[in-house]
Order: sequence, then C-alpha cells, then structure tokens
Amino acid sequence: MVHNFLMLGIESSCDETGVALVKAQAGHRPVLCAQALHSQIEMHQAYGGVVPELASRDHIRRVLPLTRRVLANAGASLADLDVVAFTRGPGLAGALLVGAGVACALGAALGKPVMGVHHLEGHLLSPFLSADPPEFPFVALLVSGGHTQLMRVDAVGRYALLGETIDDAAGEAFDKTAKLMGLGYPGGPALARLAEQGDAAAFALPRPLLHSGNHDFSFAGLKTAVLTQAKKLGEGLAERKADLAASTQAAIVEVLVKKSLGALQATGLTRLVVAGGVGANRQLRLALDNACRQRGVRVHYPEFDLCTDNGAMIAMAAAMRLQAGVQAATTAYAFDVKPRWPLADLAAPARVG
Ligand code: KG4
Ligand code: ZN
Repeated sequence: MVHNFLMLGIESSCDETGVALVKAQAGHRPVLCAQALHSQIEMHQAYGGVVPELASRDHIRRVLPLTRRVLANAGASLADLDVVAFTRGPGLAGALLVGAGVACALGAALGKPVMGVHHLEGHLLSPFLSADPPEFPFVALLVSGGHTQLMRVDAVGRYALLGETIDDAAGEAFDKTAKLMGLGYPGGPALARLAEQGDAAAFALPRPLLHSGNHDFSFAGLKTAVLTQAKKLGEGLAERKADLAASTQAAIVEVLVKKSLGALQATGLTRLVVAGGVGANRQLRLALDNACRQRGVRVHYPEFDLCTDNGAMIAMAAAMRLQAGVQAATTAYAFDVKPRWPLADLAAPARVG
C-alpha cells in the first residue's frame, strides 16, 4: 500500500469540469493542495438545461488547461503525480468518457496508475475536506440534482442505503419548480435567492411521504402542486413569485429535515453529514442546525464551494479509498464508465431500515 502520494482528481460527470490535487500522508487525512473548476452553466442556460453533447465537448476543451492550472498553483509537475482519479459514474456517458479518457491517457503516458471513483461517494466524503470534518459512523443526507438518499456510513466504502427518492431528486424539485416559475437553470440557487423575499407560509404545499414511516422521499407531487398554484395565480404569479418560491423551498426543506431526523433516530447515530448541491441551501442548513442542536446531533457540511460538483471531492474520495485499502489503483487502463451506478453497489450491505 502506498502511504504518501499525490492524487490528481478529474470530475466531468455533468456540467462542471473539475480538477484538483490532493496530498496524502500516512496516518493523516488527505489535504487539498489546489483545485480548479469550470462551470458550463452559462453555456447551457440558453437551452434551459444541460445539453449532453455540448457538455462533453466543453469538458474536452477545459480539462487539460484546468489540469495545468492546478499543477502550477500547487507548484507541482505532471511527473510528481502518483495516481490519477476520475469520476467513473454515475453521470452523462459522453461527459464521463472525457474524464476517464484523459485520466487513463495521463496515467499511461506517465506510467502511473488510475482509479475510477463513484461521483456520489465524492459528494459523501467531501465534508472531510472542510474545516470541521466528521468522524465515522454517521448518517449521510445526499441531496444533489440527480439523487436524494439517506445512507448509513460506517467507514470508507461501507455504505448502507436507508431510503431514497421514489421519483424526483431534491435538486430536481428545486430546478423543475424554478423552471415553471420562469427562474431559469439551474433553478436551485435562483429559487433560494427569490425565496428570501417571500413568505414561506403563503401557500400550503404538500410534504410528500412526510409520515410514510420509512426513509423514502417523493418530490414529483410537489412539482405538480406548484404548477397548479402557478396556473391558478395566472397573471398574478408575477407578484406572488417570491411567496411561491419561499413556500416551495419550505416544503422541500421540511421533508429533508424530518426524514434526516427519522434516519438518525432509527440508526441511533448522533452525527449527520449533508452533501451534494442542495447542501448549499442556507434554509436547509438553518433548519437542520436547529433541529439537530435540540437533539444533540452534530451536523457536518462541505465548504459551500464544494457542495456542487468539483474535482476536489473526486481526488479526496480516491485518496481515502486508497488509504483505507478498499480500492487499488490500476495500470489496466481499460476504462469503462458507468452512467447508472447505485452507490450501494460499492459496498455489499443490503438495504436496511
Ligand atoms: O451535486 P450537484 O452539483 O450535481 C449533481 O450531482 O446533481 O447538484 C446540483 C443541484 C441542482 O439541482 C441545483 O439546483 C442544486 O443542486 N442547488 C441548490 C443550491 N445550489 C445548488 N438547490 C437549492 N439551493 C441552493 N443554494
Ligand atoms: Zn454531483
């Protein structure tokens, strides 16, 4: 097992190209040396959502310049790299292939091994890069644009699914309701901003599966309820938009908080880790902090800029997997990306709770 190493991480699963360098030393948690990110948001904005083919082409354009910048900022050169990690899935196939192809080409050219990383494991372990890192075991609330899951996390690579969304993800609920209010893409941050000026109690919106007795989520009904409300308002929507945004955000936040508390109670754990793009939502953080403080639960978040997709979390996840001995780096550069890849497949324990 390698003890001291420099890990380059490349993220290209969706609409951000992220590259980062992480340094690992025996007996210590890996630390971030440098990172660079290019967001494609502006490019996709004209289309109201991510256009996969444009995403792939843009990753190709960005990934090497970003890599050069990261190395320069860290005062390192390609020859210093020990391992190259990339996001293997889940995500857009063409976009994933860019990161995988570049990582394997770099590895082969440098004679260094590579590692394919699960994107959600990157999110899950991203709080370890924060100033207030968690300790195992904990409950993880993974809330991104594509996933909403509660996991029990016992160690690196030991993840058990407690519950997940049966339809839309939390980020998707933000994005879709924002879109039908004419707030553009990505809707989450825009809706959150508008909600600050609104009354969260203005509209009574459904809290799907709030009392379902399990740890699953459902957000599709909320979207329909917001659409119905918007239609009812008609012309009047313009002046009630902030209220509708605040009410929508409140519904999503309440469900996420209640379900997280349910998972903590069921597992008896007293630590909660929040990860993924929606983890940047300030109302969610406020509500979780309040609820958890009352129950003696510690909550950990990634730094704000590491909530959404980035290369640091991929380099970190790879470094932690290597340190923990749950995955070896390989010089078999025959990469296969996994556009669909349940996180629970990484670790055997079956669904619990
Ligand atoms: O983790 P992420 O960058 O990408 C995926 O892996 O899906 O998450 C992106 C999602 C989008 O749905 C976006 O609208 C949402 O995170 N998001 C937010 C906020 N910032 C990003 N949702 C609510 N409030 C925010 N401040
Ligand atoms: Zn993500």
